[in-house]
Amino acid sequence: MNIAVFVSGNGTNLQAIIDAISRGEINAKVSLVVCNNEAAYALTRAKKAGIETFVKSHKGFKTRADYDREITKELKKRNIELVVLAGFMRLLSPNFVKKYRNKIINIHPSLLPAFKGTHAIKDAFESGEKTTGVTVHFVDEELDHGPIILQEKVNIEKNDTLETLEEKIHKVEHKLYPKAIKLFVRRQSDNVNED
Ligand code: GRF
Repeated sequence: MNIAVFVSGNGTNLQAIIDAISRGEINAKVSLVVCNNEAAYALTRAKKAGIETFVKSHKGFKTRADYDREITKELKKRNIELVVLAGFMRLLSPNFVKKYRNKIINIHPSLLPAFKGTHAIKDAFESGEKTTGVTVHFVDEELDHGPIILQEKVNIEKNDTLETLEEKIHKVEHKLYPKAIKLFVRRQSDNVNED
């Protein structure tokens, strides 16, 4: 199965996926990394792993849909069957979501539906809650919303700082995302075998 990973920043989740594939844990290939930020360290990780990249800022495009159409062309060329959002800091257009319905997944650093948005770890830390966590879910038209694939709890201990909590969350993300992708890939191949 051909996978595209969409990134905007550091790319530690991209790295975890690359590593899980190279250990033989997921029967798929990252065929493309899509990025809207040419300074993203994720691009260095992709290049080191010999993965093709499509780097384009959204800035020159009039609408979200125009930008997404450009990306769709690249996905089609490579027969992409799964889109993995890994810190991609852009909302996708409804048209794109429709085209790839049930084929786009996202990772979010909270137990959704709690703490949606870009400051999920900080918001949970400041809320006084004793637990937060990580969610992998299918993407629909709403932000940080859609059918949940996997969730894992992370305790917020009394002696945690925002930094230690972030570390714990990222550690869980790097296990949970490859696990969810593995489930998706397996389910697809089971469906194909049943046909
Ligand atoms: C992760 O915390 C993820 O949950 C969120 O964005 C962050 C991306 O980190 N959606 P990285 O670029 O994979 O290191």
